Amino acid sequence: MAKSVTAGKMLLIAVPVIVLAGCSYEETVSYSQDVKPIIKDNCLACHEEGGTGHEASGFNMATYDELMKGTKYGPMIISGDSAGSNMIVLMEGRADPSISMPHGSLKPVRKKDIETIRLWIDQGAKNN
Ligand code: HEC
Repeated sequence: MAKSVTAGKMLLIAVPVIVLAGCSYEETVSYSQDVKPIIKDNCLACHEEGGTGHEASGFNMATYDELMKGTKYGPMIISGDSAGSNMIVLMEGRADPSISMPHGSLKPVRKKDIETIRLWIDQGAKNN
C-alpha cells in the first residue's frame, strides 16, 4: 500500500518534466528548412531527373510535388503515417538490403535525420 502511494507521488513530479520535454521535441518540422537539405545530401545525387534511382524507380525527390508522388508504383510517403511510409522503411534499412537507401555501399542516413523526416511525416508531411 505505502509503496503505491509513493509511486503516485513520483508520477506527479515526473509528469511536468515529460510535458516540457515533449514540447521541445514536437517542434514543427519544415520541409524547406529541415527535410529538403537532408534529401539533397543523401538522395538527390540519384533521385533527380536523369539519376540512376530516378531512372530505375521513377522516384524524383527534387521538388515537394515529385517527392509526394513517389515511384512509378505509388507514394513512398503517407502523410501522418511514418510507420507506413516506405521511404522511412528503406532509409532505416528495414527492407531487403538490396533496396535499402541510399543505394549500394553509401553511408546510411544519420539517425537524427531519419527522426526529422519521421516527425515531418507524422506532422502531415506539409509543404512548409
Ligand atoms: C547511389 C544512388 C542512390 C542514392 C544516393 C539513393 N538512391 Fe534510392 N534508388 C536508387 C536506385 C538505383 C533505385 C532502384 C532500386 C531497384 O529497383 O533495385 C532506387 C530506388 C528507391 C526507391 C524505390 C524503391 C522501390 O521499392 O522501388 C525509394 C523509395 C528510394 N530509392 C529512396 C531513396 C532515399 C530516401 C534516398 C536518400 C536517403 C535514396 N533513395 C538515395 C539509387 C539511389
